[in-house]
Amino acid sequence: MIRVALTGALGRMGTLVIQELSKQNDMDLVAGLDIIGEGKPLSRDVTAAHASKIKEILSQTNPDVLIDFTEPNAAVNNVLSATENDVNLVVGTTGFKRDQLETMRNAINGKVAAVISPNFSVGVNVFWKLIALAAENLKDFDVEVIEAHHNQKKDAPSGTALAVVEILKKTLGDIEVVSGRDGSCLRGKEIGMHAIRAGDIVGDHIVLFAGPGERLEIKHQAHSRMAFASGAIKAARWVVGARTGIYSMADVIGSR
Ligand SMILES: NC(=O)c1ccc[n+]([C@@H]2O[C@H](COP(=O)([O-])OP(=O)(O)OC[C@H]3O[C@@H](n4cnc5c(N)ncnc54)[C@H](O)[C@@H]3O)[C@@H](O)[C@H]2O)c1
Repeated sequence: MIRVALTGALGRMGTLVIQELSKQNDMDLVAGLDIIGEGKPLSRDVTAAHASKIKEILSQTNPDVLIDFTEPNAAVNNVLSATENDVNLVVGTTGFKRDQLETMRNAINGKVAAVISPNFSVGVNVFWKLIALAAENLKDFDVEVIEAHHNQKKDAPSGTALAVVEILKKTLGDIEVVSGRDGSCLRGKEIGMHAIRAGDIVGDHIVLFAGPGERLEIKHQAHSRMAFASGAIKAARWVVGARTGIYSMADVIGSR
């Protein structure tokens, strides 16, 4: 049995990860932590523990993997606690600053295996590959990234859109990213970035390549957070057998 601990256990993603875990024959939830709802039942055997107890909970329950869907400061702290306890990681949280990513990388490397991905859906991982192909073939086209999410999302642009920018930069060079436009703003050599926040949109991403007389749009829409939760479970199963190091979802689905 793969022993799984979860941080952000009572959040939107955490709740779905628990549902999805309960369907797996080879996985057991051994601990769930959050800053809210201490003592709330999460499964038949596990109740929510307070996030402040993470180190003792990890050492008592001895999980094989910690899945984190929280927020950036919390996630960095959770990653440090997991690496101290030799627990592998699946990190779904988005919105990290550069120095936070660096802190996590330093703690993980040579210690445990971790899958870090701003998007665990299988479809988005193919979407990223299609964008690389389009960028390679449409180098002179204008590129705009448009993403839409629910009105509770804390970070913008989305981690998935930022990953799109990194893919585009591999082909287009270190091109400027212009977020939204207002007033006098004639388009230069840039990537336009637009973040919509409205209602309960789960996650839409469009990358638009426009040239003379034509345009190509590559679009992914997540209909349900289940797409992310089931991807995170796949990543958890995969990471417990991986060598130490940092991996992406492309490694998990074998599409690199
Ligand atoms: N990688 C992906 O595929 C993917 C998909 C969806 C969301 N996300 C990201 O996952 C994160 C969570 O998203 P959500 O929609 O579930 O948010 P949410 O706000 O519904 O849930 C976050 C949960 O984390 C808890 N929390 C905060 N600090 C904590 C701590 N120190 N320890 C434990 N729990 C703590 C909160 O109380 C809350 O219950 C966000 O960064 C979001 O962008 C990633």
